[in-house]
Amino acid sequence: MKVFVKKGSLVDVKNQAIILALCEDTGKLSGVALDIDKKTGGLISELIGNGDFEGKPSQISVVYTRASLPAKRIALVGLGKQNELNPEKLRATYASALRHLRGMNISEAATSFSLNLLPGQSRQMVQAAVEGAVLGLYQYTPYKTVGRDELKDMAELKIMADAKDFDLIEDEVKKTLIITDAVCFARDLVSAPSNAMTPSIMAQKAKEIARRKKVTCKVFDKAKMKKIGMNALLAVASGSNEEPKFIMLEYAGGRKNAAPVVLVGKGLTFDSGGISIKPSEKMDEMKSDMSGGAAVMGAIRAAADLQIPLNIVALIPATENLPSGTALKPGDIIKSYSGKTIEVLNTDAEGRLILADALAYASVYKPEAVIDLATLTGACIIALGDDVIGMMGTDDQLKKAIEESARNTEELVWELPLWEIYHELIKSDIADYKNAAGRPAGTITAAAFLSKFVGDYPWVHLDIAGPAWTTKDKPYIPKGASGVGVRLLVDFLRHRAQN
Ligand code: BES
Ligand code: MN
Ligand code: ZN
Repeated sequence: MKVFVKKGSLVDVKNQAIILALCEDTGKLSGVALDIDKKTGGLISELIGNGDFEGKPSQISVVYTRASLPAKRIALVGLGKQNELNPEKLRATYASALRHLRGMNISEAATSFSLNLLPGQSRQMVQAAVEGAVLGLYQYTPYKTVGRDELKDMAELKIMADAKDFDLIEDEVKKTLIITDAVCFARDLVSAPSNAMTPSIMAQKAKEIARRKKVTCKVFDKAKMKKIGMNALLAVASGSNEEPKFIMLEYAGGRKNAAPVVLVGKGLTFDSGGISIKPSEKMDEMKSDMSGGAAVMGAIRAAADLQIPLNIVALIPATENLPSGTALKPGDIIKSYSGKTIEVLNTDAEGRLILADALAYASVYKPEAVIDLATLTGACIIALGDDVIGMMGTDDQLKKAIEESARNTEELVWELPLWEIYHELIKSDIADYKNAAGRPAGTITAAAFLSKFVGDYPWVHLDIAGPAWTTKDKPYIPKGASGVGVRLLVDFLRHRAQN
């Protein structure tokens, strides 16, 4: 969908539908709502007066203008009570409105924003509305061939703005489109089946990101990994015929020698569990086990496009986890890149193995902070549910900053403790550490394991196992890949650059 800003009023737009968002307790109509009401002979006030439209959150009424306006239809959408309005409600409202119109086979829409709806937050408001519109309309269709012509698609969303608001709105819309583009990019990577999103293809996608200014991409192949001793990553890859890749994307937006922020993302393009094989039910969803990798790729892509003045690195250890005659076996001991040894008690606890090597390698960059994102544990879904990211780490300031971005983006984060008692649970009898410690506190013991490979830098781990993949539609997250983490990281990086 093309989204663009134009000077003028919604009243004068000639198209299939104009979207008018109204609060529940509007009282007397004002602004563009009043203009439209007058032109349509009191249509809006009649609908409200008769109780047909109340403005409840995400309520939608579509009515014909019958030539009283150049536009063919008015879509009234509810924002709920004005004193309860927030960016999240705007995301949901605009997502529902556009999905509703698309469902009616309408392909062009226009809207406008009254910037004083959220006092002091006009940019956040524009951002949220555009996020909702674009992300809500996301669909993954490359494999649909039957009836392809009938696929419904919204072609354009025109945002009408007064001359005095035009610059601010246009600037914010452009920035937001960079972010939503990156979220959809991450969703596309995750939605792709594992036969079309191998480690090599992920590396290819990273190289495409590196066509941008100030972005470079390096990739270690198997031979290089052997040479430098990335044996934990190699061990996970040993059951697969797909070559593992260690992907490094570097964006030099900051001062020449400034320490970078390093983002690490789990890139399991398919996790069958390996010899400790998973049940077959829902195993298909494990194509999404590279969601952390997709998120950090999306984030660095957006950071480069937004020209955030920071040095940023994304590291993605990418591999499949499959059973075979050459696969890693329970009981095997491996010497990781850090030199520390790991007893593999469960080959399905593979994410922490590849992250161990990536986190140890991160020290090469002498980072000022490291954040890793991983669909690491089913236990995180049991602890926090489908919608919440589990956070653990070693640095309070970094955690605070991430919590702040979580509030801004509504990519919810909740901290779990990483106390000494948990570190006891991952000690191995015959090696340094074991990779699985049973069911109790499974999310925390996974993070405790990771912490053993973290270098001398502030570190936060985000377990995105819950929100990375959704099994039911949410207003602006259609079921499937959510792209979670991209908006959170971009918000974090933008604020970090400001301070
Ligand atoms: N990728 C999975 C975690 C996962 C499960 C993510 C379900 C999203 C949905 C991870 O590699 C895994 O299998 N973890 C094991 C760890 C256990 C063997 C210690 C788990 O959670 O069961
Ligand atoms: Mn696993
Ligand atoms: Zn996994």
